[in-house]
Amino acid sequence: MKQFTSVHDVEDLEALVREALVLKQHPYAYESLGKHKTLGLIFLNPSLRTRLSTQKAAQSLGMNVMVMNMGQEGWALETKDGAIMNGTTVEHIKDAAAVMGQYCDVLGLRSFPKLQSVEEDYSEEILKKFIQYANVPFVSLESATRHPLQSLADLVTITEHAPKGRRPKVVLTWGPHVKALPQAVPNSFAEWMCAADVDFVITHPEGYELDPQFTNGATITYNQQEALEGADFIYVKNWSTFQPNYGEVLTQDASWMLTNQHLANTNNAKVMHCLPVRRNVELSDEILDGPNSLVVQEAANREFAAQAVLKRLLEGIK
Ligand code: CP
Repeated sequence: MKQFTSVHDVEDLEALVREALVLKQHPYAYESLGKHKTLGLIFLNPSLRTRLSTQKAAQSLGMNVMVMNMGQEGWALETKDGAIMNGTTVEHIKDAAAVMGQYCDVLGLRSFPKLQSVEEDYSEEILKKFIQYANVPFVSLESATRHPLQSLADLVTITEHAPKGRRPKVVLTWGPHVKALPQAVPNSFAEWMCAADVDFVITHPEGYELDPQFTNGATITYNQQEALEGADFIYVKNWSTFQPNYGEVLTQDASWMLTNQHLANTNNAKVMHCLPVRRNVELSDEILDGPNSLVVQEAANREFAAQAVLKRLLEGIK
């Protein structure tokens, strides 16, 4: 594997999930694979889970790890080609990425969308330029439109907890929030679930339709109660609007926030969320602290998802 930016970079999804589960049992089985190899983790935005889990995963493979919080500690980056840099930006992404590619054998980048222009965010300009100029194997730590390490960890978690002998019903439900959030996590989750062996339903208020390139193959309904019937897994996430008015909050309807009452007609559904979560806004205390919550197990699996991906990237280095 040369890069991990979406489910499309994965040749065999089931094999990658199996690999993550084996690594969970034997995390140090490949502790020499990354010897004398350096991973650079570049964050343009904040992180807890992605930063720590990917760092730990790399260390278990014997890699050296460098972390740079570029958004706080680095030079302000210019991304536009041909820019006359007489404003606030100090270093062009083509120079910064090329230099980091000299120091690192594998690079990861987190770059959130600005939620101002759908064309700009969905072009993934920063991600693409970084990959192009760094010219080393690459792992996305969440981009403007996708969060593939999260989605792999989510699929690993569903696989671990799935009912035996039948396809699980997985529901992605929108939850309320006070801020406009990116679509990267729900886009990515939808894309991975559409590729996985599950029955997949998406529910959200009218106006919150995701880009169909990520949801093709899913059943989509505005009726949350109907969607939740018989669910084995409920994935809760807020997102802002995609179209026609990009990056907006249309409603904060609290009836969409999952409580124990919402679980009544489910198959004793397990509840997932990528975290961080705004308690009692996006998801209730009673769910998060109750027996149906998988959020901590899901976060734990971030480590083994990252380890499986880094192992594949290392194996691809000649
Ligand atoms: N879920 C997730 O990516 O968490 P962080 O933003 O803390 O990395």
